[in-house]
Amino acid sequence: MTQDNSSQDNAAGQNGGGDLFNTAAGWVLFAAGLGLGLSILSGKYFHGDKPERPEKLGYVIEGVVEEGAGPAEITMAEALNAMPAAEMIAAGEKAFAKCQSCHTINAGGANGIGPNLHGTMGKAVASHAGFGYSAELKAKGGAWDWDSMNAWLKNPKAYVPGTKMSFAGLGKIEDRAAIAMYLNSQGSNLPVPAFTAAAAPTGDASAAAEEEAAGVAAAEAGTDPAAAAGE
Ligand code: HEC
Repeated sequence: MTQDNSSQDNAAGQNGGGDLFNTAAGWVLFAAGLGLGLSILSGKYFHGDKPERPEKLGYVIEGVVEEGAGPAEITMAEALNAMPAAEMIAAGEKAFAKCQSCHTINAGGANGIGPNLHGTMGKAVASHAGFGYSAELKAKGGAWDWDSMNAWLKNPKAYVPGTKMSFAGLGKIEDRAAIAMYLNSQGSNLPVPAFTAAAAPTGDASAAAEEEAAGVAAAEAGTDPAAAAGE
């Protein structure tokens, strides 16, 4: 009997222990589930203000110069002398495709949305017969030369506010130089400004330094024959 009782007690004890264990395990699972659920939720709601958002978005490739960070643009004179004239004119003729929807360039060509451009280089601004220019371009005055054409083609609306030439402009000086060369070859013949690499840094200081160097060279050349005669 005692044995039976004890075995019953034991059984009851085991059952009780088992229930307790199951309940505890249940709570652990519940807690784990709750925790997981919360972390998913918080992930959803708070992901946006993650502190590790990089300051610069996109890939920065080392060694690649970003636009605008490069060296200053070359001068028009340098751009005009960047390649042989015939090549420049050919490049300009190609680039002129951007202008053809509004301009003809052949001698006696019709005015379109824009005036015929034959012989424009060296000609007074807004002077092509039979074209109705804007008051703003007519008021500009002067004649088309390398510098004014460069400025105009870079950004017509900045050079002549109020112009009716709706063309955004050419960002590259190489393109502007090529087109100006092409324009100049079509009924105009302005001399192309000379450019030598030595004269590149503009400013009086460098010019003075060059003259000085030339003077020294001349002086040296002058002393050489004397030295030779002395020997
Ligand atoms: C969307 C049409 C359009 C395009 C494209 C266009 N132009 Fe013009 N262009 C005009 C108009 C319109 C005028 C007259 C502007 C005014 O009267 O204010 C003009 C005027 C000019 C003038 C002044 C002519 C003069 O007699 O004084 C030059 C030079 C010129 N354009 C060159 C070009 C070149 C080079 C291109 C191409 C790179 C070009 N244009 C592209 C419409 C255009």
